[in-house]
Amino acid sequence: MTEFDVLIVGSGLFGAVFAHECRKAGKKVLVIDRRLHSGGNVYCEDVNGINVHKYGAHIFHTNDRPIWDYVNSFVEFNNYVNSPLAVYKDELYNLPFNMNTFHQLWKVKTPQEAKSIIDKQVAELKINEPRNLEEQALSLVGVDIYEKLIKGYTEKQWGRKASELPAFIIKRLPLRFTYNNNYFNDKYQGIPVGGYNKLTQGLLEGIEVRLGIDFFSAREELSALAETVVFTGQLDEFYHYRHGMLQYRSLRFEHEQLATDNYQGNAVVNYTERDVPYTRIIEHKHFEFGQQSHTVITREYPQEWSRGLEPYYPINDDTNARVYKQYKALADQETNIIFGGRLAEYRYYDMHQVIGSALYQVKQYLKISK
Ligand code: FDA
Repeated sequence: MTEFDVLIVGSGLFGAVFAHECRKAGKKVLVIDRRLHSGGNVYCEDVNGINVHKYGAHIFHTNDRPIWDYVNSFVEFNNYVNSPLAVYKDELYNLPFNMNTFHQLWKVKTPQEAKSIIDKQVAELKINEPRNLEEQALSLVGVDIYEKLIKGYTEKQWGRKASELPAFIIKRLPLRFTYNNNYFNDKYQGIPVGGYNKLTQGLLEGIEVRLGIDFFSAREELSALAETVVFTGQLDEFYHYRHGMLQYRSLRFEHEQLATDNYQGNAVVNYTERDVPYTRIIEHKHFEFGQQSHTVITREYPQEWSRGLEPYYPINDDTNARVYKQYKALADQETNIIFGGRLAEYRYYDMHQVIGSALYQVKQYLKISK
């Protein structure tokens, strides 16, 4: 008999949902996390009454009603709608690309006028088979939108020239011919009232959580505590990098507290010029309609990932896909280890997707473990 039924490595959304469902089903669960807080990347730090999204801005959005109801059963969500702005050389544009943007670019007022400018610009370029990201984007939106709103931002994000990036990174560039600045098309959207910690703490209520423990510091002893291990850390690290390292893009966040009540009037402002070193500034209080007399802003700098840095975005190219496949084959042979979440599956997941994936996997687990 082991002390616990399940040991969950990682208290992010995947681990927390898995833990909650197991506890509900009567399982004895232990959650560990190498960080000193639970919640993974959705964790918010309280800075003088403002919930700061410590690992990047998080806006919850989904079309999936059961998932929306699920998260709302732990915390109420507000009616925040993401409507980012873009700054390019002191000009201000609405995002996503919509009639407001087209009016700001060309002073046009009707969808027909906007469409004919874009179509003309695309036709003039005569790009039939885009060879790289630059050509791909140009062939979809024409030169003005590309030069002002895509090129610099993308080059900062990837740390390479757009002409050296593969075309597949951009499959579509949605153009909206209505005056609608809502970034997401999903039916449900919002931010937890009081921050994301309310969600993750609600999920983890009644569950033993040990913080500041790295699974790899005592792998044997920790694994021996439970019959099943749920691992949400990096898959290549789990297998001692035997097939090589999976690559990521990382980010550096520079947080600043300011003695003003409103710095930029919006939660998210992108900086699309190549020469501005950060990609965006987040003003956190606007996610929750904060009325504080001060504010906290975060500048987001993309950076190359190396061991020791936070791995944020998987690189979905052929080399990494090949390496991942080898690790996945090893993972598939395990009998009492479940791998899940963005790091163990080496994929970008939105929050609603990772919750959906955890609910699916825990259901499978509970079926066979009864
Ligand atoms: P997550 O990384 O949250 O949790 C994994 C946990 O495991 C971490 O706490 C880590 O410390 C722990 N861990 C790892 N290795 C360990 C070890 N060896 N021992 C112990 N613990 C270990 N989604 C969305 O819907 N809307 C949005 O606006 C955004 N915004 C956004 C911005 C940025 C910059 C990024 C990178 C991502 C987003 N997301 C998002 C995605 C969102 O962050 C993501 O869906 C979830 O955080 C994934 O949850 P996981 O549990 O998979 O990983």
